[in-house]
Amino acid sequence: MAIERTLSIIKPDGLQSGVIGKIISRFEEKQLKPVAIRMQQLSKTEAEGFYAVHKERPFFKDLVAFMISGPVVLMVLEGESAMQKNRDTMGATDPKKAEKGTLRADFAKSIDANTVHGSDSVENAKIEIAYFFRGTEQTGYEWKR
Ligand code: CMP
Repeated sequence: MAIERTLSIIKPDGLQSGVIGKIISRFEEKQLKPVAIRMQQLSKTEAEGFYAVHKERPFFKDLVAFMISGPVVLMVLEGESAMQKNRDTMGATDPKKAEKGTLRADFAKSIDANTVHGSDSVENAKIEIAYFFRGTEQTGYEWKR
């Protein structure tokens, strides 16, 4: 298994529910190490650009409106198979279909307010990380625990 990096976003509902710490703990428990973290209020242009692949989808407008309804936490997670591990930790996009014990089953309210975003392929992870983080904003360190 390879050490990868992937992008995670805690969405505005995660901040409003006060579960930033709980979400980051879940990642750390699963050996997903945050190597860059920033809280940011996205502009409409930034959110539209990030989700550009969905721009023809009927949910695009609502998705962008939700993502700019409050600040988000942007994170780069590092670990073995980090992209897939993050997706397993998040659960299904629709919280109604997410397995118990996943972030979305435990914290999400709806398919838009689904608490977290995670890159869906290793290729996209590289693109998404580069969208929000310069190389110098990404760190590296060892866990001694
Ligand atoms: P996310 O992983 O951030 O990627 C795109 C987002 O669009 C998704 O999570 C959902 O919050 C939102 N969305 C809303 N409706 C749908 C849908 N029908 N299918 C997929 N994503 C949707």
